[in-house]
Formats: sequence, C-alpha cells, structure tokens
Amino acid sequence: MISATRQAPAAVTVRVPAKVNLQLAVGSPRADGYHPLVTVFHAVALFDEVTVLPAEKTSLSVHGEDAASVPRDRSNLAWKAASALVQAAGLRGSAVEIRIRKRIPVAAGLAGGSADAAATLLACNELWQTGLSQRDLAELGAGLGSDVPFALLGGTAVGRGRGEHLTPALAAGSYHWALAFGHEGLSTAQVYATCDRLRAVRAAAGDRPGPAEPELSNPLMTALRSGDPARVGPLLFNDLQPAALSLQPELRRTLTAGREHGALGAIVSGSGPTCAFLASDAAHARDLAVALTGAGVCRAVARASGPAPGAVVVRDRQPS
Ligand code: C5P
Repeated sequence: MISATRQAPAAVTVRVPAKVNLQLAVGSPRADGYHPLVTVFHAVALFDEVTVLPAEKTSLSVHGEDAASVPRDRSNLAWKAASALVQAAGLRGSAVEIRIRKRIPVAAGLAGGSADAAATLLACNELWQTGLSQRDLAELGAGLGSDVPFALLGGTAVGRGRGEHLTPALAAGSYHWALAFGHEGLSTAQVYATCDRLRAVRAAAGDRPGPAEPELSNPLMTALRSGDPARVGPLLFNDLQPAALSLQPELRRTLTAGREHGALGAIVSGSGPTCAFLASDAAHARDLAVALTGAGVCRAVARASGPAPGAVVVRDRQPS
C-alpha cells in the first residue's frame, strides 16, 4: 500500500544473509532444464548490504569481498531486480543508483548473487514506495534466480520446485558454522550438468540412478526440531557434492581437515565450492576456523551462526 503521509526516503539500505543447504536432494532435469529439488535452506549471519538511491540513470557499484569479479552492468542480478520491479510496478523511467557492499563470496554456493537481488527488490520497493507485499517480491524474485525468495524469507525453510516454493521449517536453537571459502568459484549450471553426467555414468555402469523425485529427510527435520547440532551434523546431505568434488578435487582435503578437527558435520554448501562445518557451539566454531586456516586447505574462513533473518531494511534515511 502506498502511504499518503510518508515521504519517500532519500536512500534505503538492506542487509541480506548468505545461505547454506542442510539438505539438497536433486532429481532428474525437467523439460525446462532445471532440476526438481527438495532442499532445507538455512540463512547464516554473513551479510551483504545493498543501498539504493534515486538517480537519473541506473548504475551499480560493488565494494568488499570479491568486488572485482562482480559485473557492474545490466547482467548483474541486482540490476535485473531493479528493472523487474520497475516493470512490475509500472514505474517506467525510474532509475536507481545501487551500491553493493559484499561480504558473501561470489560463485561460492552461498547464494550471494540471489541475496543481492533480494536486497535490491526490498530496497527499491521501499525507496519507490511501491507497496508490493513480501509474497509479490518473492514471486518477482523467483523469476530472477531460484534462491532469491529464500533470501527474502531467511530462517530455516524447505524449498521445493527449483527451490523457490518455500515452507518455513520448525527448527529450534542456533547453529554455529565455520565456512571455508575456495580459491576458485564454481558455476552453478556446470555443477548441475556434472551431477547429471556422473549419474549417467553410474547408471550405464549398472548402478541404480538417483530417485527422480527427491524427498525431504524426515530424520533431519526431527533433528532440527530437537535443536541439537550433534544430531543435525551427521544428517547434512548434498546431492551436488560429488559433482563439486569432481570439479575441484582439492575440496576433499578441506572436508577431511574439518572432520579431523571435530566438525559435527562437513558438507559442500549448495553448488560449492564453500565447505560448511557444523560446530557444537560458538567456541568450537572459532577453534574449527583457526584449525582450517592453519591447515591451509582454503582461501579464507569465516564464522557464522544461523538461522539468520532474511532481507531487512537497516537504514531508511529521510531527506532533512
Ligand atoms: O536459478 P539460478 O539462476 O540460481 O540457477 C542457475 C543455474 O543452475 C540454472 O541456469 C541451472 O543450470 C541450474 N539449476 C538447476 N536446477 C535448479 C536450480 C538451478 O539446474 N533447481
């Protein structure tokens, strides 16, 4: 709803989380090339910030983690998000300056690009007082990337379809993670294609192919309700992990190092190459991060707890 009394803000800043997948079950590709998924998304407290300001012409700047590898033109998902909102809200001619401050690494399996798109949708909705609901924004976001709706929602949620159909999950407690970032990114499309290829090879060799319809792990959902990371850790599961490991075999060493230092669970996050290690508490996550750094098995390590909230407006400056 457009407020009659409220002045449009001069700038809006939105904070948006990264995600890890606690379960990622991938089916056989659909006719449109996408893979049907059942996934348990979990937002973690590693945030990008997107600020939008009114402008004559749309522009985009990026600072922080991996900034140099992020496109600054219309191909950036955040730019596409602003254009999609202009279109959906009938705001022809509206332009915006988009400033992205990145802490989520790029092409890392943490949905950083989707996070920036989600943040831009929410920020522009506020800046232009468009009045779209969270559901409208999620629908618009799903057209931009499979993980955009979850970046708006946050918390812990089950995703189906391409990952865009979400149901909040009943999860207790908080979870502490050490995240090991890789030296090189991985292309999501390439990881899915490699997953298909590996499965075809297995099927040709007489092994049973994976299930066409992925299923939610009930043991994982029960463990999440208990709030006990020691129960959750062994149930973390990612169907894309073999593909990520075949594209970057050095990730095996990273996973092994985390396990050897007592991680309750060790998994490639989404399409990788980030490896996520579940710790028993915040102090253990710190110890794990130190050990992984010392082992020299990754580019950098961050600690993050979850579940984190989805995209949220943190600054909304009024003109003085
Ligand atoms: O939706 P998004 O842009 O994040 O997807 C990037 C690529 O990952 C797609 O182009 C597709 O190749 C692959 N993908 C897939 N099945 C999904 C999600 C993504 O095959 N459920």
